[in-house]
Amino acid sequence: MTSRDLFDLKGTKILFSGATGVLGTSMALYLAQQGAELLLLGRTPEKVNALRDQIIAEGGKAWGYYADVTDEESLAKVKPLIESQHGSIAVLINAAGGNMPGAVIRPEQTFLDLDSDALRQVMDLNYLGTVFPVKAFLPLLLKNGGGTILNISSMAASRPMTRVVGYASAKAAIDNLTKWLAVELATKHGPSYRVNALAPGFFLTEQNRTLLTHEDGSLTQRGTQIISHTPMNRFGDPDDLLGALHWLCSDASKFVTGTTVAVDGGFSAYSGV
Ligand SMILES: NC(=O)c1ccc[n+]([C@@H]2O[C@H](COP(=O)([O-])OP(=O)(O)OC[C@H]3O[C@@H](n4cnc5c(N)ncnc54)[C@H](O)[C@@H]3O)[C@@H](O)[C@H]2O)c1
Repeated sequence: MTSRDLFDLKGTKILFSGATGVLGTSMALYLAQQGAELLLLGRTPEKVNALRDQIIAEGGKAWGYYADVTDEESLAKVKPLIESQHGSIAVLINAAGGNMPGAVIRPEQTFLDLDSDALRQVMDLNYLGTVFPVKAFLPLLLKNGGGTILNISSMAASRPMTRVVGYASAKAAIDNLTKWLAVELATKHGPSYRVNALAPGFFLTEQNRTLLTHEDGSLTQRGTQIISHTPMNRFGDPDDLLGALHWLCSDASKFVTGTTVAVDGGFSAYSGV
């Protein structure tokens, strides 16, 4: 087998939640360029359809499906439609997720100020928003006779960041779930089923731009702290994730399961001294 075969994704059916996000869009466009068939799953039809149309305009294959990953009923409704149109899927990427302002402890606050509703929402989105799609779509992976699940973790999972208590806990749960599911699927369904996670480091996106940079582009105190803790001395670019993404979705990683791969410019390796 040549190395080209190992990484071949042509015709691979990938069901992808959160594909219209900043990182998700870059990942989805790249996978479509590799010949994968993208089944885009999102809440907002306009956004999903726009990405689907962009992929098709660029010569790729894509379909749009609408569901909320925190709502089991909406996932259960969309599953038969996907099944009738595609039969099975080979890859499930769970990229819907993110932090929420209410689940953050601001500098002038303490843990006692934690908003329980916001905490519940951030746990629901990041943790249950991964658990529920796995539960809903595992039957489609099983029909494929093999497949891989890719979850999205964060640096906050292994090294809880100040302030973002809810998000950090939820992403830690994703790392744990990734290991748990890896064992469950390989032992109950066979060695051709794999579950891994990608842990992006700090990527400058619209969500965190004001936290990390001032209007003139200079770094805030938090941005400075992060860069000084990143041996590669820069924020990540969405393109930086693509190599690890390709590897984890393809047969090139066929003996890899239960891992969280950091793509972080060395952030998690650096003690700070
Ligand atoms: N951006 C970063 O620096 C960074 C760093 C580490 C980890 N992450 C993680 O990477 C993943 C993607 O991040 P991003 O920066 O692209 O985020 P983003 O906010 O740009 O995109 C999130 C996506 O999830 C979708 N989504 C949100 N709630 C949903 C719901 N209930 N049902 C269905 N879809 C829903 C949104 O529509 C959007 O497509 C997230 O899990 C995030 O936590 C991001």
